[in-house]
Amino acid sequence: MIESEPGVLVEGITKSFGQVKALRGVSFRAERGQVLGILGPNGAGKSTMVNVLSTLVRPDGGRAIVAGHDVAHDPAAVRRSIMLTGQSAALDNMLSARENLILFGRLMGLDKQSAIRRAGQLLEEFDLEYAADRRVGQYSGGMRRRIDIACGLVVRPQVVFLDEPTTGLDPRSRQSVWDLVDRLRDQGITTLLTTQYLEEADVLSDNIIVIDNGAVIAEGTADELKARIGTSYCEVIPLHTHEIPQMVAALGNLLPPGLRSEINAETVSLSVPAPGGAQTLAEVLRRLDQAQIELIDIALRRPSLDQVFLSLTGESSPAGTAS
Ligand SMILES: Nc1ncnc2c1ncn2[C@@H]1O[C@H](COP(=O)(O)OP(=O)(O)OP(=O)(O)O)[C@@H](O)[C@H]1O
Ligand SMILES: [Mg+2]
Repeated sequence: MIESEPGVLVEGITKSFGQVKALRGVSFRAERGQVLGILGPNGAGKSTMVNVLSTLVRPDGGRAIVAGHDVAHDPAAVRRSIMLTGQSAALDNMLSARENLILFGRLMGLDKQSAIRRAGQLLEEFDLEYAADRRVGQYSGGMRRRIDIACGLVVRPQVVFLDEPTTGLDPRSRQSVWDLVDRLRDQGITTLLTTQYLEEADVLSDNIIVIDNGAVIAEGTADELKARIGTSYCEVIPLHTHEIPQMVAALGNLLPPGLRSEINAETVSLSVPAPGGAQTLAEVLRRLDQAQIELIDIALRRPSLDQVFLSLTGESSPAGTAS
């Protein structure tokens, strides 16, 4: 692969299943060594996109280059350059984790000594040494997921596809998958990660594309996406709610003009738009301090990716994340 080439380049990919237009002309790129988060509600086309890139599904139109190879013209070269999770079907339940890893290594062309050494490294990296010699058939779901991913890394891939790698995992196993993604980045591997967990896309991705209904509807870093739907705000909670009118007076022009009419007996906190971020927060504190208003809490809050997602995709939100 040439230095300047992106890890993944997608141009106008279309794919229909009968009447269902799963992909309607999707384009994006992922630079080498980058983690690209692919975010979208159920049925958006995320898995179809990943399957096209890993040569499991043939697109109807468009062009996709993975690690320098065209998925339509040289699928074998693409397959040699990638790793795809969900190969657990390929795990042999009667063998131990170590034996599975060695077997994978041998199948990928490593000699026996190298395969044994690589298996040992991966077991250590994936915190599976304690169970290394137990049959995989007795593993829990999270352990299986880890050994599954480990098998895909026996020979260092150039591009890794992780299709919802943490769905159904406990927090600890989820964290170990997150650590893995960081390690892939450190090694210069391009990673495409689909997820319905916005927090996950936020934490892990260098760049995010949002797919809805078979099309890319937004693209950018988590911060850029958040900036699209508004600025941060400063939330202020006074010790005595009866002092809210004094707070409003003290904050003066920092508050939007319409806010006064929204304040009533039930109001317990104020949200002050904070275009200046920490500077606005400092100014809010200074004014309230001068007015001698005691606070329980004051915090700078940024719009969450959840809000971005809901505003972009309208009604359709990923399961379990709408609040
Ligand atoms: N093999 C198939 N045959 C028929 N329709 C399919 C097939 N695979 C996907 N589809 C349809 O294509 C659309 C996109 O599906 P896809 O699995 O890519 O979505 P997704 O974004 O991965 O969703 P999820 O978050 O639920 O995994 C859906 O409407 C789905 O029903
Ligand atoms: Mg899917």
